[in-house]
Amino acid sequence: MELSERPRRLRSSAAIRDLVREHRLHPHDLLAPLFAIEGQGLAEPIASMPGVHRLTLDRLADEARELQALGIRGVLLFAKVPDHLKDARATEALNPDGLLPRAIMAVKAAAPDLLVMTDVALDPFNSDGHDGIVRDGRIVNDETVDILAEMSVLHARAGADFVAPSDMMDGRVAAIRAALESTGWTDTGIMAYSAKYASCFYGPFRDALDSAPGFGDKKTYQMDPANVREAVREAQLDEAEGADIVMVKPGLPYLDVVRAVREGVQVPVAVYQVSGEYAMIQAAADRGWVDRTTAMFETLTAFKRAGADLVATYFAKDAARLL
Ligand code: PBG
Repeated sequence: MELSERPRRLRSSAAIRDLVREHRLHPHDLLAPLFAIEGQGLAEPIASMPGVHRLTLDRLADEARELQALGIRGVLLFAKVPDHLKDARATEALNPDGLLPRAIMAVKAAAPDLLVMTDVALDPFNSDGHDGIVRDGRIVNDETVDILAEMSVLHARAGADFVAPSDMMDGRVAAIRAALESTGWTDTGIMAYSAKYASCFYGPFRDALDSAPGFGDKKTYQMDPANVREAVREAQLDEAEGADIVMVKPGLPYLDVVRAVREGVQVPVAVYQVSGEYAMIQAAADRGWVDRTTAMFETLTAFKRAGADLVATYFAKDAARLL
């Protein structure tokens, strides 16, 4: 055959493939989620997330140091609140001596160059397991937003570099920005979970924090998986309200949403490869059905290709080690 085009030429050796690769992953692209628990010297395995642990603050500090040394630039912090501290008002969310503020301080002390981003939502603190305050079976918006704003200032005071509202209440980014400005935390950023879907893929995370909703589901605040224009609207609203970074979550089932949001806003776009996505890959790899490392890099690269600037992933440490 005499062909004028032979695309395979650009795939014919590792050298040429390296030269023409369109997207590259770097440890700087990755955010590592971390789970804090009370206690000392413990790393509790999470059954549905093999390889991921809940860490006491001393172990959390060690982990932060390791991540920093591997070139990771940011962590997402979550706290598992003991059951007896949960109530209908999510009171513990505003405790300045609570586990989350202490976890922020532990990470900042151990690894000062690591950016600490905190989850802002009420579900780990709420006896109803919902992201907002429940009244007559409904998740009330405005009252929740007041608490989220107060909680954000508390996190900033403890040393958080970014707060990351993951609750999907309306108007929370504006309220949080205003609260941070009026209290002098003008350098504290907001990474908004702007397009967060009502997804089954959060299951293992809810095991990790024991934060499953006590009744119903989260469909009155988290997004319908069938929608994409709505995601762009949410991201644009958050950008207009002052979000520094917007996020799409989950990741792999929503790559089209990542692309649409990337094209719809000017701020950086993050994507969250959530617990259930991690669990699926890990489970298949444990059975020898897929190669873990290849699946990890293939999925992380897919996020970059879809337009994400940052990727939150439970693979962050393993990926950074291999990069
Ligand atoms: C809390 C929150 C959730 C996740 C991040 N923040 C769970 C939920 O909304 O039910 C999920 C993260 C994951 O699955 O890895 N609002």
